[in-house]
Amino acid sequence: MRYELIMHSPDETMEFASKLAEKLQEKDVIALEGDLGAGKTTFTKGLAKGLGIKRTVSSPTFTIVKEYQGRLPLYHMDVYRLEDTFEDLGFDDYFEGDGVTVIEWAHLIKPQLPNELLVIHLYHHGESARKVMLEPIGKRYEQLCKEIMEA
Ligand SMILES: Nc1ncnc2c1ncn2[C@@H]1O[C@H](COP(=O)(O)OP(=O)(O)O)[C@@H](O)[C@H]1O
Ligand SMILES: [Mg+2]
Repeated sequence: MRYELIMHSPDETMEFASKLAEKLQEKDVIALEGDLGAGKTTFTKGLAKGLGIKRTVSSPTFTIVKEYQGRLPLYHMDVYRLEDTFEDLGFDDYFEGDGVTVIEWAHLIKPQLPNELLVIHLYHHGESARKVMLEPIGKRYEQLCKEIMEA
């Protein structure tokens, strides 16, 4: 099952992500896919807001991972600069940790991703609108998407 939504503004994207965050549990993994400027970091800011994180979330430019403390820890990764890598960089410690992991450009580390995760594709849809496609992989994420979409 896939779900498509249109977000008409950055605020709407953040609100949606924030609502999603309220339903997240430890060890949840979210993969964000989409071109530069599609809204991956904006979406992450919304997730952070929904997790009660007060610190400003920005792209991890000089590190691969940034950690934030909220209701659950948020591990924010941007793997853009890693390019395709098969090297084991120890991502499992995050995926199997006590928090939620969100990965921008996740497909670049595909071999290292968990088998089950929520893939969220973001597409430009005009100046201030974005198409969001939810692609849950695995029972946990199918259920999560159902809950979000029925709310
Ligand atoms: N509906 C929308 N949802 C998310 N971002 C949007 C939307 N409309 C316009 N934008 C703008 O697009 C840009 C997205 O940037 P960013 O979130 O950093 O993207 P990415 O991390 O995918 O490169 C921001 O400047 C944001 O304000
Ligand atoms: Mg970004």
